[in-house]
Order: sequence, then C-alpha cells, then structure tokens
Amino acid sequence: MSYNLLKGKKGIIFGALDEKSIAWKIAARAHEEGAVFTLSNTPVALRFGEINKLAEQCNAEIIPADATSVHDIEHVFNRSMEIMGGKVDFILHSIGMSLNVRKHRDYDDLDYDFFQKTIDISALSFHKMLQVAKKLDAINEWGSVLALSYIAAQRTLVGYNDMADAKALLESIARSFGYIYGREKFIRVNTISQSPTRTTAGSGIKGIDGLLDFTERMAPLGNATADECADFSIVMFSDLSRKVTMQNIYHDGGFSSMAMSQKAMTQYNKCLDEEEPA
Ligand SMILES: NC(=O)c1ccc[n+]([C@@H]2O[C@H](COP(=O)([O-])OP(=O)(O)OC[C@H]3O[C@@H](n4cnc5c(N)ncnc54)[C@H](O)[C@@H]3O)[C@@H](O)[C@H]2O)c1
Repeated sequence: MSYNLLKGKKGIIFGALDEKSIAWKIAARAHEEGAVFTLSNTPVALRFGEINKLAEQCNAEIIPADATSVHDIEHVFNRSMEIMGGKVDFILHSIGMSLNVRKHRDYDDLDYDFFQKTIDISALSFHKMLQVAKKLDAINEWGSVLALSYIAAQRTLVGYNDMADAKALLESIARSFGYIYGREKFIRVNTISQSPTRTTAGSGIKGIDGLLDFTERMAPLGNATADECADFSIVMFSDLSRKVTMQNIYHDGGFSSMAMSQKAMTQYNKCLDEEEPA
C-alpha cells in the first residue's frame, strides 16, 4: 500500500545488487511512495546486469561507482543533482563486503590488507559519502541519510569476523557526522540494525541457516524481513522522523533485547536431551 510518504523527494540509493538485496526492496518501496532517485553500484555489480530491471521498474538512472573512491562518489552526487535538477533529500548506504569472510580467514588469522578493504568498503565509504555530500552541499535541509548495520557491532557473533569492527565504525560515523550535519544543515544521519537476512552478503555469514533459526526463535516478533526493512527505511526517509538522528535503531523483532526465549530454550533443551545416553 502506498501512503505517498516520499512524494516530491529525491534520493540516491547505493547497494542494490539483485532482487534479494535490502537496497533493492528499499528502492522499490521508495518508488511506490513517490520518490525519484538514482541507483549506484560497482562496475562489476552492474556487469552482473540485474540492476537494470530495478532501474526500469523505478525509472531510475544507474551511476557506476566504487564507494571507496571519493572521485566516484563526487561523480554520483554531481550526476544525480544534474539528472534530478537539484539537491537530494535522502541517501541509502547499503554496502558491505569482507574478503576475510569470503576467503574464510578467521578473526585470529586476519589478512590485514583484506581487513583494510573491509573497513574501507563497509564503513569509511559512509564517511566519504557524507563528506562529499556536505562539501557539494548536495542534501536539502531536513534530509535523511541511512546506512545498514548489524548487531555484531555491539555483541560478538561467531563468524561475523572483521565485519563486526566495520559495523562498529559505521555506527560511530553516523553519530559523529550526524552531530555536525544536524547542527549545520538540519540533516539527520542514522543506522538501521537489521535482522539477519538471506541476501548475497547475508549468505556469506558463517552458519547463516542456524543463525536465522536462532534469531527467529529468540525474537518475540520473529526476524525482520528485507521488505519490512524497506517499510521502516521509508519512515526514516520521510518527514515523519524529522527529529531522529545519530541513532542506531534495531529493526530485529526484539532480538537485541533478549537473552533467552521460551522457543530457543525448548530447542536448546532438545539438543541436550539428544546428548543424554539412552
Ligand atoms: N543480509 C544481512 O543479514 C544483513 C543484516 C544486517 C545488515 N546488513 C547490511 O545490509 C547492507 C546490504 O547488504 P545485503 O544484505 O542487502 O547484501 P547485498 O550483497 O545484496 O548488498 C551488498 C552490496 O554492497 C555492494 N558493494 C560491495 N563493494 C562495494 C564497493 N566497493 N562500492 C560500492 N558498492 C559495493 C555490492 O555490490 C552489493 O550491492 C550491508 O551493509 C550489510 O552489511 C545485512
């Protein structure tokens, strides 16, 4: 259902790769809610070709960019303002990647070149976007900037590896830049800490099936889906959340406040029973 919450708003959406991507769902919802926007992803992701479908569906232009390159990001902002005829109102950073995770390097055996890449792609790119946007004066007053995070920034989860450090930095950047951008331009900067979700990046997490089952049993409302994340992101981009800034907001069905649930306890006890000798 559409409420026209983003009618008249312009944006830039980074990180839609395929139909499972959280950014894809957010773009589709933003379109339904009346927004116009550009899409950006790496040249490699564009060659993959899926994003063309989304661009067609949303009548959006695609601008290639490696989010670790300030030069590329400047191009995305300049070109977006050219296409849409002025400053933007919202930006989505939905980008994450760890070569240590991909190459199965454990946290006590990290490759440091990979680690730097993880931080650059998954966290510093957010600072770069904010700094470029501010220098170009590319965001309208009361605009909204969002990045996607994960609870591994606060709590240790087996297998999340150096992405946990990247998410901790990402959330810190949202607070530090949120202060400056709020003070000077009334622009809000937040992160959404989303439930584990079966996407290309999500499937890279070690033991994702067990993790999804565990968080589903622990969260009183169950895991939040990518579609539900899209709904919430629309609220965060809309004028209905004008005074929310510098926050990391859990969108996880209540998982982050739980320590043990009835459903998880039942499952855990079953495992203990199985271990009992007959
Ligand atoms: N899937 C989950 O379980 C989950 C949970 C919480 C948060 N998140 C976060 O949500 C965001 C989106 O991930 P997703 O789950 O939709 O997976 P996804 O794989 O669909 O999206 C990740 C995106 O990052 C892009 N990317 C990688 N390197 C890049 C670079 N150098 N420059 C520009 N773009 C680059 C990829 O092309 C891809 O589009 C990520 O920040 C991820 O950490 C995911």
